[in-house]
Amino acid sequence: MTAFELRRKYIEFFKEHGHKEIPSSPVVPENDPTVLFTTAGMHPLVPYLLGEPHPEGKRLTDYQKCIRTGDIEDVGDNSHLTFFEMLGNWSLGDYFKDESIHMSYELLDKVLGFDMNKISVTCFEGEGDIPRDDEAASYWVDAGIPKERIYFLGRKHNWWGPAGETGPCGPDTEIFYDTGKEPCSPNCDPSCSCGKYLEIWNNVFMQYNKTKEGKYEPLKQKNVDTGMGLERVIGLLEGKNSVYETELFEAEISKIKELSKVYNEQSARIIADHLRTSIFMIIDGVRPSNVDQGYILRRLLRRAIRHMRKIELDANLVNILVETFIDKALYEMYPETTKNKETIIEVIVQEKDKFIKTLENGEKEFNKNAQKAKEEGTNKLSGEVVFRLYDTFGFPPEMTLELANENGLTFDMEEFNKLFKEHQDKSRAGAEQKFKGGLADHSEQTTAYHTATHLLHKALQIVLGPHATQKGSNLTAERLRFDFANPAKLTPEELKKVEDIVNEQIQRDLKVTCEEMSLDEARESGATGLFENKYGEKVKVYTIGDFSKEICGGPHVEHTGDMGHFKIIKEEAVSSGIRRIKAILEK
Ligand code: ALA
Repeated sequence: MTAFELRRKYIEFFKEHGHKEIPSSPVVPENDPTVLFTTAGMHPLVPYLLGEPHPEGKRLTDYQKCIRTGDIEDVGDNSHLTFFEMLGNWSLGDYFKDESIHMSYELLDKVLGFDMNKISVTCFEGEGDIPRDDEAASYWVDAGIPKERIYFLGRKHNWWGPAGETGPCGPDTEIFYDTGKEPCSPNCDPSCSCGKYLEIWNNVFMQYNKTKEGKYEPLKQKNVDTGMGLERVIGLLEGKNSVYETELFEAEISKIKELSKVYNEQSARIIADHLRTSIFMIIDGVRPSNVDQGYILRRLLRRAIRHMRKIELDANLVNILVETFIDKALYEMYPETTKNKETIIEVIVQEKDKFIKTLENGEKEFNKNAQKAKEEGTNKLSGEVVFRLYDTFGFPPEMTLELANENGLTFDMEEFNKLFKEHQDKSRAGAEQKFKGGLADHSEQTTAYHTATHLLHKALQIVLGPHATQKGSNLTAERLRFDFANPAKLTPEELKKVEDIVNEQIQRDLKVTCEEMSLDEARESGATGLFENKYGEKVKVYTIGDFSKEICGGPHVEHTGDMGHFKIIKEEAVSSGIRRIKAILEK
């Protein structure tokens, strides 16, 4: 079975069981600032899991492109990927555990042809007021899984969500395939990560909403949210030991092998995984930068290039690797890769060029210092050299270590760490100094209003839409005034939503950071603000946690936590299409 067929069979099965197919959303969530990427199929469905009616009904199915970078260090083993496709089906207050479990069993058994003797499942063992999930277990027994292959595990394994800090979540039941490997110990079971048991599907019984205070409130409706990792399952169905051996990666890995002079499997997998993820980020509009999604893209691309150098694969051939991926593997399931091929290659080649320049300058500096050390009769580089390579040339210390090893040199990591820490302390002190400087003509309260203005701006865009941009602003130590575009008067509900969102960000105690960059970089990084020349060549971009990013002169608070309670005291018209809000921060 190909991945394409697996996807089709999954979707068709659920359609036959009354589900409507919905389209995959972009990898960058459209209306959710709490996460950088879509990490699960349920993500775009959060409002419907919370109770809003979905236009397509109560039974849905789809495939969703997902990105998870939390496991980036594990990429290179048999099963971890930073990009993957999640097949999913949902009940929005319709069927629950019984039907969900029976449908899962039937699909695995009858449609996909799994050897059901190799399937084990796990259920939630209970905690506090939430009982052990004997109910789910009984449906598994009823479907055909013997008791010996049902395991009860705790929150760490059998509780899913929320995807961000708040939102729908609940106990789950996970389905594992026994790969036939020897158990790593007598206690080896599906909770063990030795690779004997591979998780293939997760059915979450979403009946709680985690609030920002950390409480679990019962949801209006009981939902089912499931997720099956397409790459892993296709690996098992093709009888492969690793996702990297499947048709999805085969051509790419063999191209890497062909072009490299000193091949190693782990580097090849890292290169393949990181390029694949980068391709999908670029399609959805992400560009390399130093913040948020752009930073992750930069990190993936640079890591891929470092590994290309490691296996002596000329970085200038990166376009061939991208083309091979698209033409040999991705085109069928993802026609958007073919459509965007030129842009994808252009972005990747540009970032490669930037990185190579940095690398070359840094390598020159490294060689100079290696030579000097040898002349001085030592085989040790000073921590100061390593720090300079880091600070001035952007060399991560692990890369310097790699180079040092190749040259028979060592270096003093402790000294590097000490310098690194001093540098951090200094720049922190610098930032505080700057902050105080800014305060000379701004009271603490005005500063808080300044930050509140950014929160308000973003909250208005979330509630009203992206048209609600800033048209003017005026601050005193007593209140803020903010003008913005909107055709109509705001309803009391809308005003309440805006207030709630702002207060939520205040309570989250988000860190406020400032970066200087060129106007172009600011635009690329997705910062909002007036992109007019009046800002000059360099601009300051203030980022408030994961919530807002705006071009602004400052000053701002360092953390949102102490700003007080945000309250809108007036909403009125200024002129046609422009509204004005006055708001205060209550201590
Ligand atoms: N949302 C669940 C998961 O990601 C299905 O595992």
